[in-house]
Amino acid sequence: MKDSASRVPDAMTRNAQWAARSRKAVWHPCTQMKHHERTPPLAIARAFGAWLYDYEGGRYLDAVGSWWVNLFGHANPRINAALAAQLCDLEHVMLAGFTHASVVELSERLAALAPRGLSHAFYGSDGASATEIALKMSFHYWRQRGLSHKDRYLRLEGGYHGETVGALSVTDVALFREAYAPLLREHPVLASPAVHDAIDSHAATQATNEAIVALERFLGEQADTTAALIIEPLVQGARGMAMYASRYLAAARELTKRHHVHLIADEIMTGFGRTGTMFACEQADIAPDLMCLSKGITGGYLPLSCVLATDEVFDAFYDDDVTRGFLHSHSYTGNALACRAALVVLDIFEQDDVIAANRERAARWREMAGRVAAHPRVHGFRQCGMIVAFEVDGTDAGWTSRFATEALRREIVLRPIGNSVYFMPPYTIADDEFAFLVERTIETIDAT
Ligand SMILES: Cc1ncc(COP(=O)(O)O)c(C=O)c1O
Repeated sequence: MKDSASRVPDAMTRNAQWAARSRKAVWHPCTQMKHHERTPPLAIARAFGAWLYDYEGGRYLDAVGSWWVNLFGHANPRINAALAAQLCDLEHVMLAGFTHASVVELSERLAALAPRGLSHAFYGSDGASATEIALKMSFHYWRQRGLSHKDRYLRLEGGYHGETVGALSVTDVALFREAYAPLLREHPVLASPAVHDAIDSHAATQATNEAIVALERFLGEQADTTAALIIEPLVQGARGMAMYASRYLAAARELTKRHHVHLIADEIMTGFGRTGTMFACEQADIAPDLMCLSKGITGGYLPLSCVLATDEVFDAFYDDDVTRGFLHSHSYTGNALACRAALVVLDIFEQDDVIAANRERAARWREMAGRVAAHPRVHGFRQCGMIVAFEVDGTDAGWTSRFATEALRREIVLRPIGNSVYFMPPYTIADDEFAFLVERTIETIDAT
């Protein structure tokens, strides 16, 4: 049998050849494949720093950090070197019954960096698997304590925690949920404090006040059947980078503690410096019961996720009886290459004093992005650390995909969520590259 490549006409460009083969053989994520008839996937041959390069000399500034994962640029020499060294020692060993230096060191260092008390690391692969782990751990914890009727999770309006069935059941994005509604357990949805506006705006203050009242009321009435509240601290990414003040986090921690409900902080997107601090929870000086990490953990190199749990949660499973253990596993749990990438990411944070450097970078980004904020079709300009977002007025139904296509034509990768456009480039993007991003974004707004 001939492979699909041989059916692609020779006259096609290399970009077009890869795109055509991809359309036949690869089922792309979060994509209506038929739309690729009009806009084929872009074939990337290599990447360096903040740039992606295609097969014909085209270049594209990765302003969304490849779905919010990249921290220190593509083909980062320090991460590359560490991975090469790890490859020579150990690529992978199952983590049940075995352990290795990279996973031990990573777990110790995460515990030291995370909010106090989160000293036990349980690993998964993608973000959604961390969500699943946290949900199961929370319910199971209450079950071990004889409270198995605490079997519901509180979720926030517009929240996103991944797309496996359990994670989807605590996600509130209709587009992703609708087809699977019969499979999903209904969990209560509460008002969100997050807005598509500046964090100090009147709308933000009001939303936060209302969200705190709603949480207090719910917990006052139904805490006894609630296992946990799951939230994205400070920024609801998939909702279009909707942001809120740390005051809500502080209130959520206080209320959940008072009512004996776990707080699960989904820091899958916000962790590793995105919101300006290592973890968003730090900005409210709170420690959740369970914290989910992924995305930036490996600098955008390899799939790895982690749930950090407190001693109290861990101790509830520590027993002579095997059935009281947390019997959850994935084949690649604690993969040595992924853990090594994560260790070098932590080295870079430490050696380059990244959080302090990012504070200055964020201020420069704010200044440079001022021209976008002042654009007559832009409102709701907001920034939380290394995330800049704004709303574009005067759009129609096809605008979101048209904008992304026009942005690519101008050498920038932007994927608006509805009318919300955001910048989440690698931290290492140079100032002149950021200025280029701003310039080309304005051109793209004007062209759409
Ligand atoms: C807050 C949050 N949680 C969970 C996920 C799911 O992660 P993954 O796509 O790696 O499964 C995402 C992904 O965007 C996210 O932003």
